[in-house]
Amino acid sequence: MKNIRDLDIRNKKILMRVDFNVPFDELGNITEDIRIRGVLPTINHALDENAKIIICSHLGRPNGEWKEEFSLAPVAKRLSRLISKEVLLAPDCIGEDVKKFVDEMRPGSVILLENLRYHKEEQQNDEGFARKLAELADIYINDAFAVAHRAHASVVGVPKFCDQIGAGFLLQKEMDYFYRAMGDPLRPLLAIVGGAKVSGKLKALNNLLDRVDKMVIGGAMANTFLKAMGYDMGLSKVEDDLLDTALELMKKARKTGVKLYLPVDCVVAEKYDARAESKRTTVQEVPAKWMIMDIGPATTLLFSEALESARTIIWNGPMGVFEMEAFSKGTMAMVQNVARSHALTIVGGGDTDVAVHKAGESNNFSYISTGGGAFLMLMEGKELPGVAALS
Ligand code: 3PG
Repeated sequence: MKNIRDLDIRNKKILMRVDFNVPFDELGNITEDIRIRGVLPTINHALDENAKIIICSHLGRPNGEWKEEFSLAPVAKRLSRLISKEVLLAPDCIGEDVKKFVDEMRPGSVILLENLRYHKEEQQNDEGFARKLAELADIYINDAFAVAHRAHASVVGVPKFCDQIGAGFLLQKEMDYFYRAMGDPLRPLLAIVGGAKVSGKLKALNNLLDRVDKMVIGGAMANTFLKAMGYDMGLSKVEDDLLDTALELMKKARKTGVKLYLPVDCVVAEKYDARAESKRTTVQEVPAKWMIMDIGPATTLLFSEALESARTIIWNGPMGVFEMEAFSKGTMAMVQNVARSHALTIVGGGDTDVAVHKAGESNNFSYISTGGGAFLMLMEGKELPGVAALS
């Protein structure tokens, strides 16, 4: 895979696919711009080379319909502020008006095309649509790690119609860090997997059990494992149809010699509410009408001891309902423990990054991925279509 530095981009027109799918509050303000900041090195490099930069992205899921709330206008404004340069928003991403817009660009200028998903052809990976996008530029750069798991037109179609293609620095960095963690890691390699569901992470769990030395399982997904072991989980979230699968995964861990760590105690609440009455209990004694909301202090200690010898840690998914203050202690303690470890520490997906930022520890992690689904797909051991299309 070539990267932008390997290509002669001087004064050229670059179509840069990024993932500016950022969150907004109810007033329409961007609440988190890490995905925008993440591509600044690539944009700045292209600006240094006096290129004409045509940025394209999706935002949300407008499903082929033109809806104002999915416009990239606020993103153009934010980007403009971050690069201290005007960023014009094109009226669309393809068509005559857009071509005119591009033709009038001066070297060293930046435009942002309007939401790619205003056209249903984007998600359908339509060849004609991909061709029209490709025709806008001389060079295609993909710096959109977070959408690299989608075989969409701007991700896998456009590179077929461009002579010069390559990765941006963000995509490259994401892949490099992931490879350092999972391809050729310093061992012991420890995976922390949390979040709500075993079902969404089944393939990842299976793949990880072939690669890691230790695995810590927390969050609601641990409940399914604990119930499979015979413990009563009360009203906690459990995927009853996956009890046998959980047993098989535990069997696999024994076979592959992976040390598996599950919660030994927890914080339970009477209902799923931030102000609900709560108490600590062992996993053997979850009361019938209560539900598990977080890991308990003994589990935090057990997990921190498991982390101690690790030289590489990869983490996806929180330990509990950390959005609610009362049930955030387990996840926050995990953030602190991983941050203080001497391992290479990589976090991605499942809102884990949100927990790390909330704890103010983002500078103490080796790498925080900008991807959710894409990161999970890598954890499943699969190749990302967006990366394959550049190779
Ligand atoms: C993401 O936020 O995970 C990416 O931008 C992909 O978005 P999607 O799940 O709507 O395809």
